Amino acid sequence: MAKAAPVSTKSRVAAQAKSKTSNAMWGGRFSEAPSALMQRINASIFFDHKLYAQDIRGSIAHAQMLAEQKIISAAEAKQMVAGLKQIEKEIAAGKMVWREELEDIHMHVESRLKEIIGPVAGKLHTARSRNDQVATDFKLFVRDKMDEMDAALQTLQATLLARASQHANDLLPGFTHLQIAQPVSFGHHLLAYVEMFGRDRSRLQDARKRMNESPLGSAALAGTPYPINRHHTAKSLGFSAPTANSLDGVSDRDFTLDFLSAASISMMHLSRLAEELIHWSTPFFGFVTLSDAFTSGSSIMPQKKNPDAAELVRGKTGRVYGSLMALLTTLKALPLAYNKDMQEDKEPLFDAAEQWSICVAAMNGMMADMKVHTKRMDEVAGWGYATATDLADWLVRELGLPFREAHH
Ligand code: ARG
Repeated sequence: MAKAAPVSTKSRVAAQAKSKTSNAMWGGRFSEAPSALMQRINASIFFDHKLYAQDIRGSIAHAQMLAEQKIISAAEAKQMVAGLKQIEKEIAAGKMVWREELEDIHMHVESRLKEIIGPVAGKLHTARSRNDQVATDFKLFVRDKMDEMDAALQTLQATLLARASQHANDLLPGFTHLQIAQPVSFGHHLLAYVEMFGRDRSRLQDARKRMNESPLGSAALAGTPYPINRHHTAKSLGFSAPTANSLDGVSDRDFTLDFLSAASISMMHLSRLAEELIHWSTPFFGFVTLSDAFTSGSSIMPQKKNPDAAELVRGKTGRVYGSLMALLTTLKALPLAYNKDMQEDKEPLFDAAEQWSICVAAMNGMMADMKVHTKRMDEVAGWGYATATDLADWLVRELGLPFREAHH
């Protein structure tokens, strides 16, 4: 994949020497090409190429609906669909060259389609704008990520459940204020995280239901005069309905915020568990040994085994929060409807989704592999009068003392 070059002095100078041809897609009323810098700041292809499968899926649904509604002919739709499927294969095989001047994934797909099927490709964008197109693509992408993360969290829950039943009768000291409080079963402790990851999953499922409406047909912002069928495209893309309002359809990015806040809360849970693993694996606690697979050595101190994966889960949490803050801030002052600022929605979400996914998988690996030192836990569970509350309760139950007196 081609990468955007850093803006050098040379390219800044080159930016002033404009070329003569305007943009082939939207440059109808432009007589000059954009400056190199404009091209650079405007282009999203170096990250939104990730949306290619969703973009092609959306275009196929749109083309088929256009034919169904007799806005284009069935033969034209067939050509488009075949061309789009070919493009999908080309991109998957790494054959597409990303070009800054083609701005984004939508224009790359359309211009390649024109190369393959000729001028009829120009009819694909009938009754559609890149605004409803990108909103649709991004919803499809985020919806997939919601499903993937739901499944990943379910796997982590299953691992925790297995370890919890293995250690249902093994005690560890329960802590409050990180002071030894009362002995609890290690299984019970792990099940607390099963609850947390369960709530994370329910947040995703809830957000998925809320976001699952199709923006297609909103066009640029005001809908379109063609006799389209929004229910047709909504259904073929797996949406429960079309969005109700076209201005909202193109400018709603709440679903990205729902995803990022679910990711942030879940990262907070992962980070708490990571923090416990870091404590438990020190010799001071000595409760667990993390496997070699998720730890690393020190380049200077040969005796060390560092809990790097756990530390990185804790460390990446801040980065995921950052994505949520970035997007909340980007969106907060945008008037209706679409604004180019919204192009900045993608990188934070892509990054957060990737980091969250790595962290859930790493946590799953650590939990599955770790050795639990039940003898040591049991020993520490007896330290520091950890059963004092139980003794007070015994005095209440057996000797009938008031609890305050028994406590004293
Ligand atoms: N690359 C754009 C984005 O991600 C696509 C939408 C562009 N729309 C427009 N009116 N320029 O937001």
